[in-house]
Formats: sequence, C-alpha cells, structure tokens
Amino acid sequence: MTQADLKKFHIKSFGCQMNVYDGERMAELLADQGMSAAENGDDADLVVLNTCHIREKAVDKVYSDIGRLRRKDGTSPMIAVAGCVAQAEGKEISRRAPSVDIVVGPQAYHRLPELMEVAKSGKKALDTDMPAASKFDVLPTRGKQARPNAFLTVQEGCDKFCTYCVVPYTRGAEISRPWSDLSKEAHALVDGGAREITLLGQNVNAWYGEDEKGQRQGLEGLIRALDKISGLQRIRYMTSHPNDMTEGLIAAHGEVPKLMPFLHLPVQSGSDRILKAMNRSHSAASYLDILEKMRAVRPDIALSGDFIVGFPGESDQDFEETLQIVREANYSQAFSFKYSPRPGTPAAAMEEQIAPQVMDERLQRLQALLNEQQYAFNQNTVGRKTDILLERQGKLEGQLIGKTPWLQSVHIISPDLTIGDMVEIDITQAGPNSLTGQIKERLAA
Ligand code: 5AD
Ligand code: SF4
Repeated sequence: MTQADLKKFHIKSFGCQMNVYDGERMAELLADQGMSAAENGDDADLVVLNTCHIREKAVDKVYSDIGRLRRKDGTSPMIAVAGCVAQAEGKEISRRAPSVDIVVGPQAYHRLPELMEVAKSGKKALDTDMPAASKFDVLPTRGKQARPNAFLTVQEGCDKFCTYCVVPYTRGAEISRPWSDLSKEAHALVDGGAREITLLGQNVNAWYGEDEKGQRQGLEGLIRALDKISGLQRIRYMTSHPNDMTEGLIAAHGEVPKLMPFLHLPVQSGSDRILKAMNRSHSAASYLDILEKMRAVRPDIALSGDFIVGFPGESDQDFEETLQIVREANYSQAFSFKYSPRPGTPAAAMEEQIAPQVMDERLQRLQALLNEQQYAFNQNTVGRKTDILLERQGKLEGQLIGKTPWLQSVHIISPDLTIGDMVEIDITQAGPNSLTGQIKERLAA
C-alpha cells in the first residue's frame, strides 16, 4: 500500500466530550493529509476507534467493534485504536485483537500519519507516549465547523485521584493550555462558523493561565475574554470539580451574558463516608453550599451531575444519603452509573465490593428520582420564551433540533431555518427528554 491508497477514514468516538473533541482534531489532521471522511466503517480504508476506559463495559464495546470491522470478503480496513483504552492497554490490544494495526494514546494522536506509514509496511505501530511537546502545537489550525456548537479542550488530565477513576492514569497530570493558544483557537472556531463554544477539561474549572498582560487568570477570566468575541453567542464549560468552584467563577454566572445557565458538577455520592473513601475531598454540605451560592447569582441555573452507586462499602444508609442530596440539589439532568472496578485503581482492591443485584436496584431507584426531576424541570419551562441554537436536523421533514440555554433539546418544524440559526421560541410542550417549541422570531447571528 502507498499513502495514496488510504483515501477514506472513519472515526468513531466513545465516551466523553473530550474524546469527541480529539476525534474532530484527528479528522482535521487526516483531511489535511488529503483523506476524506467516509459515512461509515464499511467504506473506509482507515477506521479509528477513539476509545473510553472509564468503565469495563466501555472497554468490552471496543473489542466487539473491532471484531465487527472484518468484512464479508475476509478483509478489514486499517484499524487504529486511539483514546484511553489505547493508553491503558497499549501493546496488549494487538495481542488480544491481532487485526489492530495502530495503537495511539490521547497525547500522541498528532503522530497518526507517521504511524499509518509504519502500519502500511505491515508492522504494528504503537505510540502511547506522553510527550513534553504538546500535540496542540502541531495539529492543523481549526477550519470550517460542521456544527455551530463547538468543543474546545482547555485543560487535560487530572491530579485528583478519586479512588475509582482511571483518568489520572490514562490522561496524565493536569495541564492547562496557554491563554494565547485558546484565544486563537476560539477565534478560529468562530470564524469557522461556531456560535457556541463549550470549554472542555476533565477538571475544566482548575484551568489557569496568564493573559496577554502577564496576569494570572482562572477559568472565569478566560470566559470573560471569550464573551468579547463578536459572533460567538454562547459559552459553556464542563466537567467541573466542586473543590475548584471558585467565587470568581460563580460570580461570572451572574455577570457574563454569554455564559449559559448550566452547571455540570458531579457529586458522585451523598454520603460523607463514601465521599471520603472515594477521595473526593468535598462533603455533601460543601457541595450544597456551592449550589446555594450559584443559585443566589443565577436562580435559573440548570444543574447536572454524575453519580456512582455501589462503590465498595456503600451501605443502604449511604445510598439513602445519595437520594437525599439529589432531593436537595434538584437536577435538570444527570448521569448515573454502577461502580465498575478499574484495574490499578485503589477502589478495585477494596474489600466489601457490592453485589451486582444490589447495584442494579440502587441504580433503578436513583434513576427514577433523577428522571422525575428532569421531567419536572422540563415541564417548568413550558410557557417560557427563550432562544435556541439550532444544532442538527430532526427525523421529520423540516424538523430541526436546537438547545435552550439550559441544555434541553427542542424540536421545531421550520423549513425556512437552518442549522446555526438562533431563534426565539415559546416552549409549548415538555416530555421527559425534550421539548417542543413554536418560533417567535429569528435572531440576528
Ligand atoms: N465506575 C463507575 N463510574 C465511574 N466514573 C468514573 N469512574 C467510574 C468507575 N470506575 C463516572 C464518574 C465520573 C464519570 C465521568 O464517570 O461518575 O464523573
Ligand atoms: Fe476521575 Fe475524580 Fe479526576 Fe474526575 S476528578 S477525572 S472522577 S479522578
């Protein structure tokens, strides 16, 4: 095979939004090499599986996907495993799945073209280094955006070492990208058609940097600077850790017009005993205290969170405390998971692992409560007038799907509007997962 033989690529990203961002950057890199995107794996000469290692199920999915890439005629495309499974399992992947040609970690994917060269010569290519020089310095600059809602990774890695979590091992130590790089990338995204930017990081609110005057800034400083970019209409950020939720960032929610009233702030558990065993270094009370301060400056803030049920040693009483904090915090949406022991993490070696059926039952009860709160939140917005950013096509003829400031999906029918438009609507109906709206007026871009 020669380089020219690899014409089409397909990238499938699993897991978090940081993987979606990395997948987009890989797509831009491959396009820069003269390749084009294929609709699906069947038409592709190169398939990149951009993987997630956070729970065991996510890992199993990668291996079943690799198996499915074999075609009826017995051939398969060149296969690259990227992302956190690549980082964590390295060479082991090609041993378990010999059809994998390339294994590339989240800090090394800018080297994909070179690794493809190695793979073309029939050798296995592996790069799971965490190099000192940043991949961001060599990736192509951001161009035209396929979506009006863009992601921008501002911070990577994590130093928190929650005892259940693989992220500090797969994504490495916390690193903040420099202010000037982020400012340039944000401008390029807006020039490329982005109307909303979501700042991403495993611990996004731990971001810090020096502005062009050499002054130290936290995330709120960056948000205030982005607020000044004309053409940009919305700013979001995720995921935040309670311990890095500064007064300045909270205040920004009451003052920065483009900062959306939405906060993804995982608490994981409502029991202080479990939070301690998780090494979360916050308590249920300190978490609620943050929410109180946030709601004082932004009463309509929509709250999202992550929960783990069945962490080792979690008693019925601990779980009741999780339900209790959910009742007090009141979520507009949330993600909840059964604890999954991850190799190499302290919690995997803890005694008193919880039986699967106990986890199932707890997860069901927690999700029932969270679903109830989400539905109530949605219903409370019926009758409200709000603006939505149209992000994608719906299934019906002339249907578009947009997002409210509170990150709810809204379905509208309008043949005259297109993706990227901002429109003012009346929210007319609410379901458990989405809303229906009627257009009031189109807003200037
Ligand atoms: N088991 C279950 N859920 C986990 N998460 C992280 N690690 C694990 C694990 N070992 C969840 C946390 C985190 C989210 C991204 O995934 O809730 O906030
Ligand atoms: Fe994992 Fe905890 Fe870091 Fe979040 S804060 S990425 S849960 S170690």
